[in-house]
Amino acid sequence: MKQINLDLKAQANNYPSLQLTDRHLCDLELIMNGGFNPLNGFMSMRDYTSVIQDMRLYAGSLWPIPITLDVDDKFVSKISKSPKISLRDKEGFALAILNIEDVWQPDLELEAQSIFGTIDTEHPGVNYLFKTSKRNYIGGKIEKIVYPNHYDYKNLRHTPNELKEIFKNKKWDKIIAFQTRNPLHKAHFELTMRAMKDLNANLLVHPVVGMTKSGDVNHYTRTRCYNHIMKEYPKDSAFLSLLPLAMRMGGPKETLLHAIIRKNYGCTHLIVGRDHAGPGLNSNNKPFYGPYEAQDLLKKYQDELEIEMVPFKFMVFIPKSGKYKSIDNLVENEDYKTLSGTELRQLLDEGKEVPEWFTFKSVADELKLSNPTLTNRGLTIFFSGLSGSGKSTLANGLLTRLLEEGSRPVTLLDGDIVRTHLSSELGFSKKHRSINIKRIGFVASEITKNGGIAICAPIAPYEEDRAYNRKLISKEGGYIEIFVNTPLEKCEERDSKGLYTLAREGKIKEFTGISDPYEEPKNAEIVINSSGESPEKLVEEIYEKIVDMGYIRRVK
Ligand code: PPS
Repeated sequence: MKQINLDLKAQANNYPSLQLTDRHLCDLELIMNGGFNPLNGFMSMRDYTSVIQDMRLYAGSLWPIPITLDVDDKFVSKISKSPKISLRDKEGFALAILNIEDVWQPDLELEAQSIFGTIDTEHPGVNYLFKTSKRNYIGGKIEKIVYPNHYDYKNLRHTPNELKEIFKNKKWDKIIAFQTRNPLHKAHFELTMRAMKDLNANLLVHPVVGMTKSGDVNHYTRTRCYNHIMKEYPKDSAFLSLLPLAMRMGGPKETLLHAIIRKNYGCTHLIVGRDHAGPGLNSNNKPFYGPYEAQDLLKKYQDELEIEMVPFKFMVFIPKSGKYKSIDNLVENEDYKTLSGTELRQLLDEGKEVPEWFTFKSVADELKLSNPTLTNRGLTIFFSGLSGSGKSTLANGLLTRLLEEGSRPVTLLDGDIVRTHLSSELGFSKKHRSINIKRIGFVASEITKNGGIAICAPIAPYEEDRAYNRKLISKEGGYIEIFVNTPLEKCEERDSKGLYTLAREGKIKEFTGISDPYEEPKNAEIVINSSGESPEKLVEEIYEKIVDMGYIRRVK
């Protein structure tokens, strides 16, 4: 039963309300449940400054990464006379009251440089600071009303005290935490088994299910994989619990935070592998941090944090022995195998078998289930071009071809259809066109997510809106942009709707190509000039290209 502080809940109605973001919600949960101990609220300016300058809270404890409540200017102007604010989830439920200590505008560049060692926005933590975080921070202590609600995997979520109690009941006194944001494969399994054996200890599989890196396997799929792999461990040796942390991908400093959290959850050891909490490559294609920089930093502070690091080098598979080995233990010219994340994705895209040496079959089956092959995955085909360029004709032709092929349901979102059913109140100003294109993007992303094909055919004259849709939809499945590059003169000559004549006479304002801009797509996967060829031939050309890209089965 969830415990709610009803007094505080009633009080919350007296204060300005802040609707929390996903990151705030994760941070708040760990503040309230003690996972972020000794933090008892979002950082005040004093703590924040001290963390930035000395990696310590003002009172002296080691703390590597600011935990802050960012809000916009409008919210700051709302709270000027209030001593407290109420913090609410997305449905409006009050979760906590924050006693305002201070409100300030941080220097985000300084924060990025000090915490992540870079201001390169390829770094997810920096990107969040510069592009998502609001300009003001509010610091202050938290009074808990109730924990954020989770509908998923309730029996796998524990507070630090609950987990400590479980360990106590199991009489486990040496517990190694394994942090992960990926599905577990055999290399991880081997490594954790080895750690347990070497230290004569038990294992806490402690995956992050708050916010991880964009493009990661979603936590539902991962948790199904974890449930499978837990059955492979010897009876009563390992325990699975989900951690609602919002990762910053802060490499070495984030590793310290992981250590603090695991200590709070009752663990005595933390496994740290290669490039722990690493953010990937920077804008020059170089890693942000050295592969063992995280291990070096934790080594320095593990005594103070009272948790011992279990360092691991990269594990590789040795076909000859059928076993895994640390890469630094290879004998000269020894043959070994690895499979990168990109290689794994490619196997899944093409519907090929994932080798048994790499992962358990049960895990491979889960991954296959949530990563349909390209020929079964949702897809958006987004035409862009001037009015009269031939978008609608080509889109209709392609619709028929895809219905004939029949692998997925297909929806056509033509410019005119959308303007009738979704955007009838909109005109043709830059702002309205942008809203129109984003609505199309939203619907297409839903169709794509659910495994269908969306064919869109608006003018979509602005690169910014097209890029927005590309990003949104690519998260859900395939995305192909087709630029119908018919010259303006040809479109005007066709003038099938008579609109160009009216636009030239000034009777239609803001007409694309005449009195309004059209920014030509620079990244289109397919470019078509419809002025020379018959529509049938062009549809066939587009269809063949989509087959070549792997999204449609080639019929032999
Ligand atoms: S946009 O910019 O993408 O939102 O435009 P879109 O929704 O595709 O436009 C749909 C059709 O509206 C007709 N129309 C105009 N087009 C451009 N500029 C102006 N001012 C305008 N007024 C009406 C035009 O026929 C578009 O249809 P298509 O299919 O492109 O010919």
